[in-house]
Amino acid sequence: MASLEAFVQVMSGTSPSIYCFNPCFSNVNRVFSVQSAVNNVRRRSSVAEKVHSNTRTLRKGLRFNAAEGGSDGVFHGKTGVNRLENMTCKCQQAESGRGVTAEDKNRILFGDEPNRPIPVPHNPITSSPDIDEFKVVQQLKNENGGFTLNGKPPTAGTVQEKLENVRANSIEDEAWSLLQDSVVYYCNNPVGTIAANDSSSTSVLNYDQVFIRDFIPSGIAFLLKGEYDIVRNFILHTLQLQSWEKTMDCYSPGQGLMPASFKVRTVPLDGDDSATEDVLDPDFGEAAIGRVAPVDSDGSCMIDRRMGIHGHPLEIQALFYSALLSAREMLAPEDASADLIQALNNRLVALSFHIKEYYWIDMRKLNEIYRYKTEEYSYDAVNKFNIYPDQIPSWLVQFMPSKGGYLIGNLQPAHMDFRFFSLGNLWSIVSSLATLDQSHAILDLIEAKWDELVADMPLKICYPALEEQEWRIITGSDPKNTPWSYHNGGSWPTLLWQLTVASIKMNRPEIALKAVETAEKRISRDKWPEYYDTKRARFIGKQSRLFQTWSIAGYLVAKLLLANPSAAKILVNEEDSELANAFSSMISASPRRKRGWKKKSFIV
Ligand code: GLC
Repeated sequence: MASLEAFVQVMSGTSPSIYCFNPCFSNVNRVFSVQSAVNNVRRRSSVAEKVHSNTRTLRKGLRFNAAEGGSDGVFHGKTGVNRLENMTCKCQQAESGRGVTAEDKNRILFGDEPNRPIPVPHNPITSSPDIDEFKVVQQLKNENGGFTLNGKPPTAGTVQEKLENVRANSIEDEAWSLLQDSVVYYCNNPVGTIAANDSSSTSVLNYDQVFIRDFIPSGIAFLLKGEYDIVRNFILHTLQLQSWEKTMDCYSPGQGLMPASFKVRTVPLDGDDSATEDVLDPDFGEAAIGRVAPVDSDGSCMIDRRMGIHGHPLEIQALFYSALLSAREMLAPEDASADLIQALNNRLVALSFHIKEYYWIDMRKLNEIYRYKTEEYSYDAVNKFNIYPDQIPSWLVQFMPSKGGYLIGNLQPAHMDFRFFSLGNLWSIVSSLATLDQSHAILDLIEAKWDELVADMPLKICYPALEEQEWRIITGSDPKNTPWSYHNGGSWPTLLWQLTVASIKMNRPEIALKAVETAEKRISRDKWPEYYDTKRARFIGKQSRLFQTWSIAGYLVAKLLLANPSAAKILVNEEDSELANAFSSMISASPRRKRGWKKKSFIV
């Protein structure tokens, strides 16, 4: 429901069309090339340049051509003028049909003057406080017996409150301006946002690329603001890049592998020094640091280095579960898809049961594990994965609150990874992979362990960090993943948006409000870092990029959703009653009966 609704909205007539793309997608194995008389479509350093360049190009018109992809993986093509003029014409019609020219649009978005944060017109969602916003505030007041965002007694209309509002709004304005400035253009159309726009950094590495996963919060922010073009273009290009034939060393990944990122390169046009062409250059991991990209893109797991996440990490399970739900939504209920739908349902039931039942941990379960017998043999075994109680780490005894619980990071025979993975837990709430009770318990734990998980900047990517010998062995002494840094217990502001969706879904938005308020104290002053270090997130991360786009977009999505909680509907999956029933009947079934279920060919 959620994904389908958003997808249809983006891909269908509810958003303005740019016809230029149609011919290119009549065959996804085809690739296309754009030749423009001037180099115009790459992102520029200054806003003014961008406006100027885009305007100039639009006047000249674009020339598109569909052509076969070369073996080097770069789009090539020769101009077919008649057809191209046609498409240019259609593009212009699409723009003028809305009564706003691209030139106007750029002026609105970027402003006329460079280097000045331009307040972007607010989303109708936020600028007109609607019933939903009113409802949240009312609800918070009722629940907390009078409440303000900073936790102080309500002083509506005081100077202090007004000042705080102004400050929060100016951070939001700055964020919109920075987000617009991170937009990447291809064929004069917005196709994504670069990972970081950090001009102070001497080495850009691959942060000047459009990362598939990093674009998600940007895309949602744009959707919530009613800007669909960039999201549609991004989806179409990503889809097209998936069909790329690629070889890494001797290995050819299967069709459908998503790139981790892509870059728009502007290269001189063969045989014409005065002209350039834009090419889309995807990275499937062959250029990525540590060749980690396939892990990045396989379900967009947040933790991408050697952090001991092999096997069945929760993050991948939760994202995979969401992907299956989305796939099921998108399949038309017709005879030809019956088998697929059946297979999807089988997999959903099996995965859902496995995670809810075996990954869940709270005080009661922990005590049960503490008293486990090992080396059991029988269908009635209680300790099904032969977990040795000595594996319970000492930190967990302190960490586990009496009220609350969470899904552990990973589970394999004889091994439980007890780390708390934030994205996996939040996404289990959002996708209803966790039961309703479990979802509330996860939020209870986040509240109870606020100082450990949020402290001075939301939100730790995982808890706790691997330290000393464990860090040496598991990370291979990775200098970027030192304890409480980066993927090893670092704090990532982008996770604000998932925290917000999860808390809105569970009708507990006050959790997200508190986190946003914490972030607002320093995120803009600190220049929107990628991540923070130390146990309390006190330092900007050692190697953290500044002006990291998904930190900016994550904050914006959180703000937009808190202002209009009902908009979060497009992102959540309500509990599927059939899956919930299947789970309860499996739980209440006898061990023998459980064995019977196994025979039904559920694969996890
Ligand atoms: C870093 C982050 C990763 C992100 C990428 C681009 O590698 O760890 O999560 O996708 O940068 O921003």
